[in-house]
Amino acid sequence: MKETQTPILSIENLTIRFGGLVAVNDVSFDILPSELFGLIGPNGAGKTTCFNMITGVYRPTAGEIRFQGSSIIGLRPSLIAARGIARTFQNIRLFGALSVLENVIVGGFLRRKTTLFESMTLLPSAIKETSQFASAAMALLEMFDLADLADTRSADLPYGKQRRLEIARAMATSPRLLLLDEPAAGMNPQESEELMRDIKRLRDEFGQTILLIEHDMKVVMGVCEKIVVLDYGAEIAQGPPEKIRNDPKVIEAYLGEPV
Ligand SMILES: Nc1ncnc2c1ncn2[C@@H]1O[C@H](COP(=O)(O)OP(=O)(O)OP(=O)(O)O)[C@@H](O)[C@H]1O
Ligand SMILES: [Mg+2]
Repeated sequence: MKETQTPILSIENLTIRFGGLVAVNDVSFDILPSELFGLIGPNGAGKTTCFNMITGVYRPTAGEIRFQGSSIIGLRPSLIAARGIARTFQNIRLFGALSVLENVIVGGFLRRKTTLFESMTLLPSAIKETSQFASAAMALLEMFDLADLADTRSADLPYGKQRRLEIARAMATSPRLLLLDEPAAGMNPQESEELMRDIKRLRDEFGQTILLIEHDMKVVMGVCEKIVVLDYGAEIAQGPPEKIRNDPKVIEAYLGEPV
């Protein structure tokens, strides 16, 4: 029964101020394991700022963030990543000069047992681990239809494929929670269809929990089971897509007309 499940992420009265601006104001929501959860709202509503607080980039002014039952406020971003939260960025951040495969292998290094120094040596344990990362990375590239491009410089990929690669790299850290910040931005309709398919597959095949920020309402309404809507930092609605798309406050603040 979903109702009785313990949330994987619990946001309680989350607030952050930048000088006089309250960018996120008393926001609360819970994400259950394996849930596809949407975070939407107009430009400047505070969505990316929520990601920055969840990943430890910003420290909230007030409120609580619990991940798998314990508070993660005050933890460094690297520690939060090691606990199992991975993200992609609104502005793509790949290692442009590295190949597609190398970008995903770097993602997996968060989980390495040998040290970086050992991984540069020819110690058998290090060689074994590096080749394990390479085969895990290739499996991810297969899943994201990027295997044929494994040796391509990532900066040379078309935009839509760069976005997919960023998701593959985030998945290489074996996250328990994946945060996607506008993954469909700049994608053509076919690419965003493929993205929807990938997001659903991640959940259906791996039970992946995903928190999705997105302006493309076809994607949001097509994949999310629950949605929270922010406007000027405050929560104006929360619920399943059918409720959100017909909510007069959401239509007025964001959608313009029912979608
Ligand atoms: N480091 C910061 N210092 C000051 N103001 C900030 C900072 N980060 C974000 N803001 C402000 O907080 C508000 C929320 O920004 P945020 O980037 O979270 O919006 P968003 O919902 O992600 O919008 P978009 O859909 O355009 O990406 C904006 O007014 C922004 O200018
Ligand atoms: Mg944003």
